Amino acid sequence: MKKPQTIPAGDGKLLVLLPGMGAVATTFIAGCLLARRGLAEPIGSLTQLGTIRLGKRTDDRTPRIKDFAPLAELSQLEFAGWDLFPDSAYEAAVNAAVLESKHLEPIREELHAIKPMKAAFYPEYVKRLHGTHIKEAPTKAAMVEALREDIRGKLKELGCSRAVAVWCGSTEIYIEQSEVHQSIAAFEQGLLDNHPAISASMLYAWACIKEGVPYANGAPNLSHDFPAALELAKQTGTPIAGKDFKTGQTLMKTILAPGLKARMIGLSGWFSTNILGNRDGEVLDDPENFKTKEVSKLGVLEEILQPSLYPQLYGDVYHKVRIEYYPPRGDAKEGWDNLDINGWLGYPMQIKVDFLCRDSILAAPIVLDLALLLDLAKRAEFQGIQEWLSFYFKSPLVPEGLYPEHDLFIQSMKLKNTLRWMMGEELITHLGNEYYD
Ligand SMILES: NC(=O)c1ccc[n+]([C@@H]2O[C@H](COP(=O)([O-])OP(=O)(O)OC[C@H]3O[C@@H](n4cnc5c(N)ncnc54)[C@H](O)[C@@H]3O)[C@@H](O)[C@H]2O)c1
Repeated sequence: MKKPQTIPAGDGKLLVLLPGMGAVATTFIAGCLLARRGLAEPIGSLTQLGTIRLGKRTDDRTPRIKDFAPLAELSQLEFAGWDLFPDSAYEAAVNAAVLESKHLEPIREELHAIKPMKAAFYPEYVKRLHGTHIKEAPTKAAMVEALREDIRGKLKELGCSRAVAVWCGSTEIYIEQSEVHQSIAAFEQGLLDNHPAISASMLYAWACIKEGVPYANGAPNLSHDFPAALELAKQTGTPIAGKDFKTGQTLMKTILAPGLKARMIGLSGWFSTNILGNRDGEVLDDPENFKTKEVSKLGVLEEILQPSLYPQLYGDVYHKVRIEYYPPRGDAKEGWDNLDINGWLGYPMQIKVDFLCRDSILAAPIVLDLALLLDLAKRAEFQGIQEWLSFYFKSPLVPEGLYPEHDLFIQSMKLKNTLRWMMGEELITHLGNEYYD
């Protein structure tokens, strides 16, 4: 990434495109509509509430991030999306049962006006869903073209100057990279051949990147995590980020594990289980879809703890993750963790975490931050993988050969230092010698 000279202001309206208009997407839209009318607080959003220290601790310069970097305002946002169910954002939000009517009724009309476009959907990748609001196209290449037309059409219809996209659709079955994902030419041939290793989420990502629309992937799907998509992102000057929003249990893991490691506390086992009853839980009840999520959740510990550097502390960790579909719980997920740790001379101890969380309440502010920061990245002429946005993901995208940084505190420092660098401010190293000279 080269350092930007001046970042052009984001004039005009910003279209936020959401492939998948279920619980997370509608909770996000509703929150933005309420916050911009002053009816609720955008809690959990770094771009709305966070501050950034500039210069020395004695300089007393700590602006809000949104006053420091030229981010789009909430009032500039327009929303659109795709889904295989024709429900408006209002109906989908009522079905998702995340928000209460005291939050939905004041914005009922605005939500109702947001109707999903027909989805690019193939049931073999998400077997539990049976929708009707689906596009027809003879090939996956034609499907990409139809999605590109949707993007251009919505920009025009809503009078927006630019767009960003955040995948809020379902988790697809586990797909590994293969030949078809290795180059732009191979992928485009695969689109013409209806290649089975090209899933729906890849079509949205491909269409957006072709249109130069920054794209973040909130699910663990392969989507754009392969060389061809990266090559295309560089060719079209498009920032991309992913994957899988870091919300409940994994957020806790990436807070706790770096702390244990910093104090050289050993770990022999970490058992995580979840019960949840929303549509996401239903999709993840299928073993092939769960596998995609499991791979995303399991990588975190190994990469934080670095067992090869600390074999006596982390050489033999038993890490297990379960997700159980339990309808009575709805979106109010419960995540239990049992950690078997050991201290001085190997004496065993345990930590239990019981996180009674709300999945979409934790995910919605991430969608907002990603939309605003990716739009900023595009204006700053950043392109390809945006590693500084790893802060928001369970499985941060990295180029081949580089391990991802999972530690939430390192991720936060990286994000803020990137903003400082982008805006021509000094980086903060936390050395602090100058206060004692
Ligand atoms: N909520 C969280 O804390 C969290 C955390 C990490 C990741 N995620 C991921 O975010 C995604 C959304 O979660 P959710 O709770 O809103 O799920 P949801 O089931 O409520 O919504 C997903 C929506 O995507 C739609 N969809 C599926 N395939 C599609 C396609 N090809 N085109 C268009 N629409 C499609 C579905 O019909 C559904 O309405 C899931 O993949 C989930 O795993 C959520």
